[in-house]
Amino acid sequence: MTALLDRVDAAYGDLPYMKRTQANRLRELILNNNARNILELGFFHGKSSAYIASVLEERGDGHLTTVDLGSARDRSPNINGILSDLGLSHRVTPIFAHRSYTWELQKMLRARPRPVVDLCYLDGGHTWDVSALGVFLVDRLLRPGGILVLDDLDWSIATSPALQKSPQKLSHYSDDEKTAKPIRILWEDVLPDMGYDHFAIHPNLGWAIARKRGTSKQESQ
Ligand SMILES: C[S@@+](CC[C@H](N)C(=O)[O-])C[C@H]1O[C@@H](n2cnc3c(N)ncnc32)[C@H](O)[C@@H]1O
Repeated sequence: MTALLDRVDAAYGDLPYMKRTQANRLRELILNNNARNILELGFFHGKSSAYIASVLEERGDGHLTTVDLGSARDRSPNINGILSDLGLSHRVTPIFAHRSYTWELQKMLRARPRPVVDLCYLDGGHTWDVSALGVFLVDRLLRPGGILVLDDLDWSIATSPALQKSPQKLSHYSDDEKTAKPIRILWEDVLPDMGYDHFAIHPNLGWAIARKRGTSKQESQ
């Protein structure tokens, strides 16, 4: 039953960024792996958050915590407007970070009880410092058997339109860091070293999916 995903498309189909093909795959991952506590890093307008919340609503349980910058409040429409319009606000806690989700993750790590995450969708801040610290911090929150979905596998500074417009920011990076693909490095070399399996890769979606080793109730691709 994907009627709730259809409602997101009907109202916000043209909005960036998440595509319906990605939402369908995420739905499959959430349902097949019984993911109840979901974390998203980077929500922009909140379209992906609305898709995730629709899946949770369809199943009748689960919650999404999602983090972006304070500037996301000024987007039109913004996440609060979209969720309220779709009747999904009760499924989502949006966090507007002052500087970065890495600092918000610090707060989650130190909270007692510490949140336990079943599935994390990482879709924001693709430079090395942000994404690598993000992955290490998320690892401390993810349960054994938990799923980490990485978007923008082939993102690089050299191909980022936003960074190309900012010569001042570009000048901070060496040539090899500019052409490197931080998310791919995390996927290929760092996550296996941290005890993650390569669960699935979807070049057509720009996604790589890693699974934290360890026992869990139920996993399936
Ligand atoms: C591609 S957009 C997210 C799109 C959204 N997941 C979707 O599919 O609809 C990336 C978002 O990450 C946010 N972002 C980038 N770096 C961040 C950081 N360090 N902390 C919090 N948010 C960040 C940006 O503000 C932007 O809104």
